[in-house]
Amino acid sequence: MSDWVRAFAPASIGNVAVGFDMLGLALEGVGDRVEARRVDTPGVTVAEVRGIDGELHPYLSTNSNENTASIAAQALLDAHGPGIGIELKVHKGVPLQSGMGSSAASAVAAVVAVNALLETPLAADALLPFALEGEKYASGGLHADNVAPSLVGGLVLCPQVLLPAIIRLPVPEGVSAVLLHPDLQVNTAHARKVLTKSVPMQQWIDQQGLLASFIAACASNDIALMGRSLRDIVIEPQRSASVACFDAVTKAAQKAGALGSSLSGSGPSIFALCKSGDARNMASAMEHACRAHGIACQSWVSSMNAPGAQLIES
Ligand code: HSE
Repeated sequence: MSDWVRAFAPASIGNVAVGFDMLGLALEGVGDRVEARRVDTPGVTVAEVRGIDGELHPYLSTNSNENTASIAAQALLDAHGPGIGIELKVHKGVPLQSGMGSSAASAVAAVVAVNALLETPLAADALLPFALEGEKYASGGLHADNVAPSLVGGLVLCPQVLLPAIIRLPVPEGVSAVLLHPDLQVNTAHARKVLTKSVPMQQWIDQQGLLASFIAACASNDIALMGRSLRDIVIEPQRSASVACFDAVTKAAQKAGALGSSLSGSGPSIFALCKSGDARNMASAMEHACRAHGIACQSWVSSMNAPGAQLIES
């Protein structure tokens, strides 16, 4: 048996309002940890899964066919380490079904840790297809908007049609992300299944325009254009009603000066982008609005350049 190696992978904001399934932003200060070591028996086993409280997780599975971390690790071994045996320990830091890329964070941390145990480790970007296998199991779809930012950090574009490409986008100076997690849960697989299968041409044209403008705003540091572009007119209207505090929290964000706000992934988390100087006040305003609705919550403030997954000491 080898020594344990440990990896941390951050939570992430999926879609970032304008780019359903193709735009994602890594978050600072919250993520999952996975420990891995080599063992003699080929394949991947999960020794334990611990929750945010450090206790053994009450229902996340240690069956290696049912855990996003082990599924991703096994996909990596199938391609680059046949015959190798790996044992994993998963430490959840991202709340489940939160819209913060919880399953992606576990899958990414697992492949980064296991990669370090291979004879010839791969470059970070090359790990994407394997982490996606874990994500696919959890969400039922092939979208990299959580996995890709968790893996490489920052703001990334990863359209399904170009996978496994990860396109790193420049981020404007002085803009931060605020993420509010209401104490609710949304099942991503279900939230995806019930989405309408077709979109009117005008909506498609308008959303394409908003995505393109948002990316142009990032590249040209045009914060006013970013504020005009950060809108989801296709998916958010189909999902926001399932998050009771959505209207109150987004109104509070707007009042506090947000450039824009929307669901993070399939929700229930809600994010806002804002000038960095407004971020703390924005987080308090969003929390206040959520609690006024009778829903407990937690928030994080992050730069738009949060680092991606990495090996850590402990
Ligand atoms: N893009 C995905 C969705 C992210 O919105 O369904 C899931 O967190």
